[in-house]
Amino acid sequence: MLCGLLVLVSFTVLTWSAPLLSRAGHGCVETPLRFTSDGTFQISIFEDLHFGENAWDEWGPQQDIDSVTVMNEILDAESQQLVVLNGDLITGENTFTSNSTLYVDQIVGPLAERGLTWASTYGNHDSDFNLSRYDILGRERLYRNARTSQMVFGNDSGVSNYYLPVYPSNGGSEPSLLLWFFDSRGGFHYQQTDANGDKIGQPNWVDQTVVDWFQQTNAALVDQYNRTIPSLAFVHIPVNASQALQTSRGIDPNHEPGINDDYPLAAQAQGWCPNGTTGTGSACSYGGQDLPFTQALTSTPGLIALFSGHDHGDTWCYKWNSTLPGTTVAGNGLNLCFGQHSGYGGYGTWTRGSRQVLLTEGLLEQVETWIRLETGGVVGRVTLNETYGVDRYPATVDTRSECVGCSYDVVSDMPGTA
Ligand SMILES: *[C@@H]1O[C@H](CO)[C@@H](O)[C@H](O)[C@H]1NC(C)=O
Ligand SMILES: *[C@@H]1O[C@H](CO)[C@@H](O)[C@H](O)[C@H]1NC(C)=O
Ligand SMILES: *[C@@H]1O[C@H](CO)[C@@H](O)[C@H](O)[C@H]1NC(C)=O
Ligand SMILES: *[C@@H]1O[C@H](CO)[C@@H](O)[C@H](O)[C@H]1NC(C)=O
Ligand SMILES: *[C@@H]1O[C@H](CO)[C@@H](O)[C@H](O)[C@H]1NC(C)=O
Ligand SMILES: *[C@@H]1O[C@H](CO)[C@@H](O)[C@H](O)[C@H]1NC(C)=O
Ligand SMILES: *[C@@H]1O[C@H](CO)[C@@H](O)[C@H](O)[C@H]1NC(C)=O
Ligand SMILES: *[C@@H]1O[C@H](CO)[C@@H](O)[C@H](O)[C@H]1NC(C)=O
Repeated sequence: MLCGLLVLVSFTVLTWSAPLLSRAGHGCVETPLRFTSDGTFQISIFEDLHFGENAWDEWGPQQDIDSVTVMNEILDAESQQLVVLNGDLITGENTFTSNSTLYVDQIVGPLAERGLTWASTYGNHDSDFNLSRYDILGRERLYRNARTSQMVFGNDSGVSNYYLPVYPSNGGSEPSLLLWFFDSRGGFHYQQTDANGDKIGQPNWVDQTVVDWFQQTNAALVDQYNRTIPSLAFVHIPVNASQALQTSRGIDPNHEPGINDDYPLAAQAQGWCPNGTTGTGSACSYGGQDLPFTQALTSTPGLIALFSGHDHGDTWCYKWNSTLPGTTVAGNGLNLCFGQHSGYGGYGTWTRGSRQVLLTEGLLEQVETWIRLETGGVVGRVTLNETYGVDRYPATVDTRSECVGCSYDVVSDMPGTA
């Protein structure tokens, strides 16, 4: 019923996209996600699309057009059942109050056009003085193919915290897989300024209310189905453990293939003090507030991997299987993965692309994943199984989208050629 209502609203508000919506084949929020008849389920992750930069220039709108082209090329090259928009859909510091969420229409255009269904997490750039992540959700929900929702309602919980069950191909009503979506917040509060007239920062970690909801909801599901259901998780900003793995263990190009240019990477709770303020100036580098979330992740049996964006120059997966120096949380084999910078907005010129995740029913301990580039190629194809981290793979070549007028030296930027 709610779904029908949303479609009606969308026809009146989004006049231009009405034909797209009427062609949208599946994905009404009431239609469950399901493994296909060949027993697979594929996810395409777009992250850091950063729509809406410099609307007043020529290059801003042009890079949004280029980002839509990236999405079209990747969607055509792959056969996905779900698209995940893993944060920083829009660059909020560049947008105007009156129309900042209209960029959602451009972003989901290629999805609605194909009848694809999608689920978002929001990133730090999705909250700013002129952009509200609540309003992004509202705009998304005008489309019947949107599965993004909000399941935690604390003042400080963020918005995009929810889960989606994926059901078996045989029509069964017990989920085969759970997809968890977490909101790592960040950016600035909507239409709020402090006594000095400055924008007010929003904490950049997954809130304790969300951690509590995750653990309670997961426990209830384990109870209901009397078993552990395998799961994947998505969050925009990675946890500090990713940085600790990167700096203390090192990313091996043949064991964790991927670009590793953002070093050290930016993680949750960066720039915040342990007391929950940002201090003055750059008083604190890391406040530790992501530890309850991290602890919850590693103590959730069946959680196979966490996928993040945020660090455009990192694209690897690391199997975290041990205690790290200086940390209290021990890895349990959880894979911490980045995808690929998908948008022309945002920093960096790494070849745009999208991480693919292919799950096979009954074989969820062998998750296949690779990065499809806008140029058509595939890099970093690995299997996240028991021996990931030990298995040998070809290294990923560090390529850039375009070099005409690039400000960097393309040759010395390529590993192995300097
Ligand atoms: C929003 O408004 C600005 C200023 O009028 C304009 O340049 C921009 O194209 C608009 N963006 C959208 C998505 O409509
Ligand atoms: C917010 O948008 C208004 C117009 O809607 C614009 O005048 C202002 O500069 C923007 N503010 C910020 C902080 O981006
Ligand atoms: C949430 O914020 C509102 C408005 O600032 C406040 O009245 C309310 O007490 C807050 N609720 C919680 C649970 O903190
Ligand atoms: C739960 O599963 C266990 C085996 O894993 C079984 O022994 C038990 O009977 C099950 N309980 C219910 C209520 O089905
Ligand atoms: C929080 O901690 C930082 C760093 O130690 C300090 O600069 C700041 O004054 C503290 N703020 C409060 C409100 O305690
Ligand atoms: C956070 O990561 C850094 C390495 O980048 C590490 O030194 C530190 O111990 C980590 N902190 C925690 C609490 O995990
Ligand atoms: C994991 O996958 C790799 C690549 O397909 C394969 O070589 C390896 O044998 C697999 N390990 C296990 C334990 O199945
Ligand atoms: C943990 O993974 C590393 C490679 O990432 C591997 O060398 C090591 O043997 C693994 N340790 C355990 C206990 O599985």
